[in-house]
Amino acid sequence: MDRSIKTFLKHTYKDFKTRSVNPPLIRTSTMVFKSMSDLRQVQRKNIKNPRGGHFEYGRQGTGTTFELEKILTNLEESYHTFLTPTGFGSVFLCLFSILRPSDEIIIADPLYSPTRILTEDYLKEFNINAKFYDPNNLDTIKKNFTNKTKLIYVENPGSNTFEFQDLGKIISFAKKKKILTAIDNTWATPYFLKPIKIGFDLSIVSATKYYSGHSDVMGGSLAVSKRVFKRVIRAQNMTGLRLSPDDAYFIMRGIRTLDVRLEKHQDNAIKIAKFLSKKKNIEVLYPFKKNKKNYKFWKKYYSGSSGLMGLKIKVKNKKSVDRFVNSLKLFGHGYSWGGYESLALHQEINEQGNRKYLNLDKNEYIVRLHVGLEDPKDLIKDISNSLKFLK
Ligand SMILES: Cc1ncc(COP(=O)(O)O)c(C=O)c1O
Repeated sequence: MDRSIKTFLKHTYKDFKTRSVNPPLIRTSTMVFKSMSDLRQVQRKNIKNPRGGHFEYGRQGTGTTFELEKILTNLEESYHTFLTPTGFGSVFLCLFSILRPSDEIIIADPLYSPTRILTEDYLKEFNINAKFYDPNNLDTIKKNFTNKTKLIYVENPGSNTFEFQDLGKIISFAKKKKILTAIDNTWATPYFLKPIKIGFDLSIVSATKYYSGHSDVMGGSLAVSKRVFKRVIRAQNMTGLRLSPDDAYFIMRGIRTLDVRLEKHQDNAIKIAKFLSKKKNIEVLYPFKKNKKNYKFWKKYYSGSSGLMGLKIKVKNKKSVDRFVNSLKLFGHGYSWGGYESLALHQEINEQGNRKYLNLDKNEYIVRLHVGLEDPKDLIKDISNSLKFLK
């Protein structure tokens, strides 16, 4: 790309025929052709070049979804980017494109909990075995590797506990063993980390989060390398997992300001992390302090950090963690993140699947904060007023 991403995101579409800076919202199931030979020609084009965005039938996409695919492929610097109706749909598409009965997958222990259930329980029903590795000790990948291993699946940073891993080491190991690698890159988005460029084969982003940015739409993307493209498009055609044009339109609207919002989330998050790191009973799980191991592996690969962080809180009384969270006035309590607003949750990690490498002492609890776009002074005041509840 010869222009900065910031500029690219503002100039992704211009149509001088309709005099529109925005792509049209094209809703259609049926696409019509002048004649049968016209229809057959498009079918042939689709077979020859399935990345081409040829208009044949609504389930394969319309002009609106093709436009978003194009924007994301540029942003990801990938071979292609597939769109799905939710971020979890992209996780599913990734796994079902690659894995087959009797295969094994090596997967990071701190994982978005529905992904954990999918890999640990559901895949078993297809005779696919998931083995978990310790994000703080990548030798556990080597230990779990067998000749049945087909894929290493990473979530970075780790879900809730925010470990950053040496991604290059994982990619080199996989290349040596001739197996594939996938990453859930929802936390950073390709604005801060481009997984396909550094050697991953598949990269998932929940578009529900920062792409949309306004907590009003759900979607997912799966960027891929050339090596896996054919397998993923086949699985997408077999499952019918596609994003609707309306949702694609809203995600495209959000994505124009992705850079501006992410940088503001980052600025606000750093301010809050600095404030909270001075508190005796709180460890901030966010890559902002140079002396931490997490910082080193973040710095090695990422160009920025988003608004999601963990707080490891050490208190005698577990109920006081709920009281702290409940008393926050500017932080909503609910799932998802990546929208304009701040959110806080007390994450009961022990109840969210069978974590094998969890470093939490008896009196330590995790609160997840999503730092939104509000004035950080107000957020700090709000947190400061609630800290008295931690006992
Ligand atoms: C890291 C991560 N990956 C994937 C997903 C799934 O995304 P969606 O809610 O769009 O299905 C989530 C949702 O919270 C997430 O946090």
